[in-house]
Amino acid sequence: MVKDLKNIVLVGFMGSGKSTIANLLAKELGHPVMSTDEMIVRAEKRPIADIFRDSGESYFRQVEKRIVLEAAKRSGCIIDCGGGVVLDPENISCLKLTGIMFYLTATPQEIFQRVKSHSHRPLLNTENPRAMIEELLAKRSPFYTQADFQIDTTAKKPQVICQEIVRVMEARGDA
Ligand code: S3P
Repeated sequence: MVKDLKNIVLVGFMGSGKSTIANLLAKELGHPVMSTDEMIVRAEKRPIADIFRDSGESYFRQVEKRIVLEAAKRSGCIIDCGGGVVLDPENISCLKLTGIMFYLTATPQEIFQRVKSHSHRPLLNTENPRAMIEELLAKRSPFYTQADFQIDTTAKKPQVICQEIVRVMEARGDA
């Protein structure tokens, strides 16, 4: 019997490089990418900033949860998770059931450099985004570290990170 290929699930803070790595993995492995943020935008027919502004974060999290459950039903996909997906323990457990979860880490300084020119992230649209990054990272660290593997992305080329993930999946017979 042919076994279902596990998904590659990418989690991590905003600006940790999930989307870049997801697209590289897709090219390398020929697997489709499912971006939870893009699926939310398609389902809601409005940008994430508008969902936060008009309906609030808790509404966003409800939609996100529905989308995560949908994505986790697939196999052999690369699932690029929004930075807050891990806040709901049920999201983590269902994603881990059908996938191998990789936490992409980066220092707060590096994250700040990567996201400072992007204004589309409502949670960082504050007076002091640098302090917000540190605060949220500290709060979320216990959730992110529930991933199966942790990969430091600081000062690393995306291709190198991609190969690290491919090697793990190959060793498991899941690539
Ligand atoms: C969020 C991260 C964003 C997006 C939303 C909330 C978060 O995704 O889902 O703005 O709570 O960290 P990215 O991590 O892809 O930027």
